[in-house]
This record gives sequence, structure tokens and C-alpha cells, in this order.
Amino acid sequence: MAEQRIFAKPDELAHAVAEHAVQALGTAIDRAGQATWVLAGGSTPAAAYRLLAQDKNAVDWSRVNVLVGDERCVAVDHPDSNWGQASAALLDHVPVEQSRLLVPEGTLPPDEAAARYATALAQLPTETSGLPRLDHVWLGVGEDGHTLSLFPGLAAVEVTDRLVAGVDNSPKPPPERLTLTLQALRGAQDCLIIAAGAGKAKVIARALRGDVKLPVARAARAVEEAGGRVTWLLDEAAAAAVSSG
Ligand code: 6PG
Repeated sequence: MAEQRIFAKPDELAHAVAEHAVQALGTAIDRAGQATWVLAGGSTPAAAYRLLAQDKNAVDWSRVNVLVGDERCVAVDHPDSNWGQASAALLDHVPVEQSRLLVPEGTLPPDEAAARYATALAQLPTETSGLPRLDHVWLGVGEDGHTLSLFPGLAAVEVTDRLVAGVDNSPKPPPERLTLTLQALRGAQDCLIIAAGAGKAKVIARALRGDVKLPVARAARAVEEAGGRVTWLLDEAAAAAVSSG
């Protein structure tokens, strides 16, 4: 059963997310000499990225393989770029190893960008299943229950034969994206699902009840079925509809 932690304010949530990441990345590095971290897009994780940038020594950044769970098909210097936003908040401010950064090629069309990204993921250390071992994964949640760029009803949600899928009809602009698939999430070891704000409350409650019409619920299930750990980190507003019983 996934753990749920609820915080009164978004800044407390951000601190908890950052602290969890420091622990998870450190554990992975202690175990294997490196860690693979999947960044989340959207605005919710930004405060946690900034907190991580404040203490350069909290993590041995030179040993962290960094990728993004989904990316809009724009250049990384475009304001819509998830990679660009995470770089501005964190990656440009800590001593990451450039060769360990899996930078998405967002200027390519979705399917080509996805195929290139999947090739990069395939170079990562794998776990017993042969899937890339994703030591630490951050996932955001949309108000429609999407996560990554897996939106309700879109074909990418059902892709099982690839690690990364192209999306050309995202209901959340911009429409063209690449996204890790549920199959890729089966390689996740420690996954944080992060949500803040009242707009997420209804889908968080549904997802925690296991409503598999919601891609975020499917994502949590994919991680746990494959033996990974899921922790929901929520502020009180996003958790407002979660029943205590
Ligand atoms: C994206 C994100 C997306 C995001 C959620 C939540 O590219 O849009 O990856 O999945 O995580 O939409 O976004 P907010 O944190 O901005 O609410």
C-alpha cells in the first residue's frame, strides 16, 4: 500500500520532496555507485528543485543520471520546456556530469524524439527485468488525472512495447510531447507522486481509491506491481477529498 504524506503548506511539501530525493539518490549511489533520477515536469516540483540547488553537497551530483519523465516538443531553451525549467531551477546550479544528462531532443517530431529518448534510456543501468533501473522518479498530477504526458484516453497510456512514446494531441498545451510509458515505470524503484492545490483534490481522491481510468493511478499501480515503492506527497488542498477511512 502506497504511503501518503500530507503537508499543510506547499513549502513544507517542497522541503519533504527535496529531503526524500536526497535520501533516495544517496541510497542508490551507495548501492551501485550511481543513481538514475527521473524529473517531473510542470510547476509543482519547481520549489523542490530550487531547494536542492541550495545545498550542492547534499548529493554527489556527479554520479546522478538525470532524465525527464516527459517533455514538450520544444527546444530546451523554450519557456515551455520541462528540461529547461528544471535546468534553470536546479541542473545549472549543481555539479552534474554532462555525460549523465539525458537531454530530450524536443525540436524533433514527437515519435522521432521519443525513439531517440528511448535509445538514450536503453543505455542506462538495468534491473533484473531488463528495464532501465529508475532509482528515483518524480511524477506530477494534472487536474484530469494525467501524469507524465499520459492523458486520459490517449493511446500513449496503453503503449507497452516501448519505453518512450510520442504524443501529438495533448489536451494540455503544447500538444506535441514525448513521454515515458507505463512500461518504463515498471523499472521505477522509488516513486514520488507530488500534487499541490485544490484543483487536484478530486483526482487525487479518485486515484487513491484506485480509479484506473486515471493515468496517475495506472502509473502508481505499474510501479508497485513491479515491486517499486510509491509515496504520495500532497499538500492539504490536494488531499482535501481523500477520505480518512
Ligand atoms: C507536463 C507535466 C505534467 C505535469 C502535470 C502537473 O509536461 O505538463 O509533465 O504531467 O506534471 O500537468 O503540472 P503542474 O505541476 O504544473 O500542476
